[in-house]
Amino acid sequence: MIRVGLVGVGHWGPNVVRSLEGTGRAEVKQICDLNEAALKKIGERHAARTTTSFDDLLGDGELDAIAIATPVPTHFKLAKAALEAGKHVLMEKPLTATSEEGRELIRIADERGLVLMVGHVFEYNATIRALKDLINAGELGTIQYMSFSRTNLGPVRTDVNAFWDLASHDVSIMSYFLGEPPMDVTARGQAWLNKDVEDAVFATFGFASGALAHVDVSWLNPRKVRQITVVGDKKMAVWDDLALQHPIQIFDRHVELPDISDTYLEHKTAVVDGGVFSPSVRLNQPLAEECTHFIDCVENKETPQSDGRNGLQVVLALEAATASMRNASAVTPIDRA
Ligand SMILES: NC(=O)c1ccc[n+]([C@@H]2O[C@H](COP(=O)([O-])OP(=O)(O)OC[C@H]3O[C@@H](n4cnc5c(N)ncnc54)[C@H](O)[C@@H]3O)[C@@H](O)[C@H]2O)c1
Repeated sequence: MIRVGLVGVGHWGPNVVRSLEGTGRAEVKQICDLNEAALKKIGERHAARTTTSFDDLLGDGELDAIAIATPVPTHFKLAKAALEAGKHVLMEKPLTATSEEGRELIRIADERGLVLMVGHVFEYNATIRALKDLINAGELGTIQYMSFSRTNLGPVRTDVNAFWDLASHDVSIMSYFLGEPPMDVTARGQAWLNKDVEDAVFATFGFASGALAHVDVSWLNPRKVRQITVVGDKKMAVWDDLALQHPIQIFDRHVELPDISDTYLEHKTAVVDGGVFSPSVRLNQPLAEECTHFIDCVENKETPQSDGRNGLQVVLALEAATASMRNASAVTPIDRA
């Protein structure tokens, strides 16, 4: 049994508590939050000891690991202290507020042989994994571009902008799909609700392969959308997280241009349409899968799929997008972790 302390039981933390314990191989022994009301609420449903002092978790020699689900600006300080106290860390996304902080956490975790894992939860989602398998198998052909939409009305954050909050998922997914991180980005966003905290951001990432990935994120949109379109030169795919029956649709469609194509009719006939099909995918609970993977890695001393370097690479992409937004949307290179 892996004994875990968890810090931060606001919106997301209680889900992590439930999912860790749901593995049957972890006990959440202590829960910390600065907010007494949040602690009282979780204390009514859970047997763990509750505390407002993070030092109680650091000083508990029985804890193997600490899970962190607090706002992004607190991630570095809490994770550094946890690693220095010899605890494995499961960190909510994004890893840190800066790449410098991310590098420091990786260094400490490596030095001490500790697991540092980031909760890039979509990398543990069965439907995202199924789509990656199709891409890897060449089912879509060469990937030309991808388009990501992640919108909703709220929740509005103030610790990070909509890009750091929402697009951290999309950057992790696009890199997972293509097996490489994006190499550059151009981004534009606007803040209306809170000064300097962009509510909507549009960004386009470029990959060394020539593929593009457009990301559209907003917490100021009337519709909840969680969609990805992947366009290959053989087939195209649409993933819709909210379409529970058929989350993945494969469109057997592409364009075959004749040698000479100067009329509309010729162009029209160049579209090859073999229909649409939906592969059946057994749905899973991605957060439960993520927590199981964390426990596996702690028990077997293995490197997680979404390890510190994977998390740092996402932070580097988010940083480059921010730099682009602050510099008239200039195409900005993304450093490698
Ligand atoms: N994977 C996902 O889909 C997903 C979804 C939502 C949030 N998150 C991530 O989870 C983290 C938390 O987000 P949230 O929406 O739950 O935020 P939240 O503001 O609802 O909750 C954060 C909690 O942390 C507590 N806290 C803040 N600083 C603290 C400190 N120094 N010590 C102890 N407690 C402290 C606050 O009192 C609050 O209860 C963020 O990193 C966010 O990106 C991930």
